Amino acid sequence: MIKKGIILSGGMGTRMSPLTKAVNKQLLPIYDKPLIFYPLSILMLSKIKDILIIVNKGQLNQYKKILPNGERLGIKITYEEQDSPKGLPDAFILGEKFIGKDNVALILGDNFFYGQFLSQKLLDCSKLKNGAKVLLHRVASPEKYGVAKVKKNKITYIKEKPKKFISDLAITGLYFFDNKVIKFAKQLKPSKRNELEITDLLNKYKRINKLSADYIGRGGAWLDTGSLEDFYKTSAFVSAIENRQGFKIACIEEIALLNKWINKKQINDAIKFYGKCEYSSYLKKLIS
Ligand code: TTP
Repeated sequence: MIKKGIILSGGMGTRMSPLTKAVNKQLLPIYDKPLIFYPLSILMLSKIKDILIIVNKGQLNQYKKILPNGERLGIKITYEEQDSPKGLPDAFILGEKFIGKDNVALILGDNFFYGQFLSQKLLDCSKLKNGAKVLLHRVASPEKYGVAKVKKNKITYIKEKPKKFISDLAITGLYFFDNKVIKFAKQLKPSKRNELEITDLLNKYKRINKLSADYIGRGGAWLDTGSLEDFYKTSAFVSAIENRQGFKIACIEEIALLNKWINKKQINDAIKFYGKCEYSSYLKKLIS
């Protein structure tokens, strides 16, 4: 089982400026909670308890106010600062000590996943022992994403933002890697845009026939919250589901409770921490 996870939660958030000038994108609200809760909940649903959050230099204090060290959730959260956005594979260079000799999951701080059977899928993916695995999702505009061609669950070709149609299976921002990822990330050279590219890293696994794929079916949602438009659409999606069902998406305390990592006491502590608000009322209902 993969026991360690990294959330890449830095970035400039250029497309969402001026909102992101003073506050990091992942601390902005998707409906009723900060964006960072959503990727964190995905790692927690994968039963990953040891989590590294990579943040921009100078923004650590903002994060620690909302997610200090994970104790409240029965998990361990540590932080690493990134000087500037050097690309997604930089996570494994910055996280080398954290990863140690283990395998590791990486999730992008601005990715949103939701859907039936997702938890089971995550648990299956986190059983990875060798190689790398990505989650694919069919999209209507493949030219905006990194896409993959697949044969019998093995990826045969990947291309970032293809101009000509190759496949409509987008590579989502959740990846599972064996420990070789540290070595491979260190071998990468920056691309023309001066970043280490995730496609180059995945290609290293593809070349040794170790890049496999799983799918989020059409009943599942994967939303990228990178642009203002997508950000508000994701908020509307969460609001529609939560208000219809009465269940919250990505309530991290609820997931910790269901995983039996915390009990009533920590939920009460969380209620005190958040203060009188709708989120606390939901937590109260969980333990009443
Ligand atoms: P991007 O969407 O590439 O970048 P961004 O979020 O800063 O947005 P923009 O393009 O508008 O400037 O990043 C995807 C996610 O990964 C996002 O959550 C930020 C994070 N990230 C890092 O933390 N460090 C990095 O070096 C990069 C490239 C991204």
